[in-house]
Amino acid sequence: MSPRKIIIDTDPGQDDAVAILLALASPEEIDVLGITAVAGNVPLALTAKNARIVCELAGRTDIPVYAGCDAPLRRRLVTAEHVHGKTGLDGPSLPDPHMALADGHAVDFIIRTLREHPAGKVTLCPLGPLTNIARAFQDAPDIIGRVDEIVLMGGAYFEVGNITPAAEFNIYVDPEAAEIVFRSGASITVMPLDVTHKALVTPERNDAFRAIGTRPAIAVAEMTDFFERFDKEKYGSPGAPLHDPCVTAYLIEPGLFSGRHINVEIETGSDLTLGMTVADWWGVTDRPANAHFMGDLDADGFFALLTKRLAWL
Ligand code: BDR
Ligand code: CA
Repeated sequence: MSPRKIIIDTDPGQDDAVAILLALASPEEIDVLGITAVAGNVPLALTAKNARIVCELAGRTDIPVYAGCDAPLRRRLVTAEHVHGKTGLDGPSLPDPHMALADGHAVDFIIRTLREHPAGKVTLCPLGPLTNIARAFQDAPDIIGRVDEIVLMGGAYFEVGNITPAAEFNIYVDPEAAEIVFRSGASITVMPLDVTHKALVTPERNDAFRAIGTRPAIAVAEMTDFFERFDKEKYGSPGAPLHDPCVTAYLIEPGLFSGRHINVEIETGSDLTLGMTVADWWGVTDRPANAHFMGDLDADGFFALLTKRLAWL
């Protein structure tokens, strides 16, 4: 089978970086057409820079990186330096990128790419707030029917929230964008906190990354060393959850994940629960299913895959 063509829409972020490295380490399954940066964990100038740092770390300066939206559709940007550090990629010492940003806006790249490829041949992989994707759907509704699948990290049901008691960060930052995407009719697979909180880097798992001994693998171990302090303190967990790599791992080995096809609506009105993913996991409404919402993960299988692939870079 030919590799799946994807666009990674991202706000790196250490876990975004690992997700990108996993995709670039898996050319038999994944063909990365381009990376589109969005404001999220840190402002756009940094996410656009970090995406290029990660491409260079993987030796893939051929991947076009586009800068996208620098703010949510209708709200002020909320960032997460308290988790990811000032640069968004705190941890390893990585050089500034040499590669330039690709010309043009990320939203135009998303629209053009979906129009240029046959319908059903391009998958979108959002790892941050959904601003770029929603803007593309608003500007060019004809592309919605051309999307093969959207596989995204965002939301939660059982784990409820991380940035507020009720909301997960990516959805909270731009709930209006999330609402547009979840109501678009595109086929959506969601990696919520319910799954990503099971993708925990224990000390043994991080030692296995470090033991690979290559620059990208050591950088992943160092990113995790930095990123995990927050979750250890907050949750008392043994290490950091690798949220975004669940998206790229799903493209490679979907059998690692299980979930339900259910209705998911986004709260955009209430201040108290803004950005909540109201997921009808138990089927108590007659609202139509619009998302494949994951609930469980084979964590050992996930880390075996990630460690094996990182060794390939
Ligand atoms: C999500 O928010 C960001 O901090 C991470 O990169 C991930 O995409 C987890 O809530
Ligand atoms: Ca992210």
